[in-house]
Amino acid sequence: MRVLGIETSCDETGVAIYCSQHGLLANVLHSQVALHAEYGGVVPELASRDHIRKLLPLVNTALQQAHLTKLDLHGIAYTSGPGLIGALLVGASFGRSLAWTLNIPAIAVHHMEAHLLAPMLDVERLQLPFLALLVSGGHTQLIAVQQIGHYRLLGESLDDAAGEAFDKTAKLLELPYPGGKELAKLAKQGIAGKFHFPRPMLDKPGLDFSFSGLKTAALNTIKANLPLSLQTKADIAYAFEEALIDTLIQKCRRAIHMTGIKTLVLAGGVSANHKLRATVDAMMLQEGGQAHYPRLEFCTDNGAMIAYTGCQRLLAGQSETLSIEVKARWSLIENNYVNYSR
Ligand code: KG4
Ligand code: ZN
Repeated sequence: MRVLGIETSCDETGVAIYCSQHGLLANVLHSQVALHAEYGGVVPELASRDHIRKLLPLVNTALQQAHLTKLDLHGIAYTSGPGLIGALLVGASFGRSLAWTLNIPAIAVHHMEAHLLAPMLDVERLQLPFLALLVSGGHTQLIAVQQIGHYRLLGESLDDAAGEAFDKTAKLLELPYPGGKELAKLAKQGIAGKFHFPRPMLDKPGLDFSFSGLKTAALNTIKANLPLSLQTKADIAYAFEEALIDTLIQKCRRAIHMTGIKTLVLAGGVSANHKLRATVDAMMLQEGGQAHYPRLEFCTDNGAMIAYTGCQRLLAGQSETLSIEVKARWSLIENNYVNYSR
């Protein structure tokens, strides 16, 4: 089955074609970073308009890359939430309409399920059950995956998501947008032990997170050290990243102990962070388990993860009616679907 995947939930237009027999056949992406940079963050209306401009040319490029025509497709998958409503509507209305004209099924994909399954674009058979730490710009969640399509929420952020905390702290340090990656780069020059930030909620039982206090701690440290030298900025970035990663790691370790599950999948934009990956690897070695990550290009938003997830859902017998629905907020758990074991 060959599925066209369309991702337009935020500031990336992603299009890909995934084949259940031959894997990924095409993957193209247009990033809107340059468009939003001067505003220091995503401007929703500009995002929607740019998706409209870029989507059709990207679909044509993906088809060319795969040496296919539209008639060779068996299904169309599009992100229908969570995300920016206008941006989602572009991909959903385009994808649903194209499927209708081609008389093939369409499938609405949950953006976070797609992040969660992204490692499977490279590792076909992940041992089930596994734990997943989803760390993106909008979400921080620990999920137990019993099987593909069956997700149990173990814990989540009660306020800022991990990526959001990275981005907001980067902005406080006057780093260019998008900040997470820039902060991580600067942290490499930081000196350990110069500053110490709190590890929120580690003193409480359970698997929820809270990152807004960490951002406030960074703000207070910045104010107390003005004017900031480049080295002080790097030292603050180091302490922030260390505290955030330490918090994520300790909660993952707790989840492993609570569930006895020793396979951990990391996904979402923040899983591109090298220090997080190295720290998770070290922790999993101690725990006698194994961690899996998506390829770097599949950590952040992309069409490949949507095409892959849509393909799994279509193979599980799902498809949409002719109505087009998008959701700014959408719990991954609500999205659980019929058991599908490969
Ligand atoms: O998954 P994603 O592309 O979009 C959402 O679904 O939100 O994640 C974007 C987030 C941003 O907050 C970005 O700053 C963060 O991922 N991010 C990073 C790194 N690369 C991207 N955060 C820390 N270190 C990185 N290397
Ligand atoms: Zn995302």
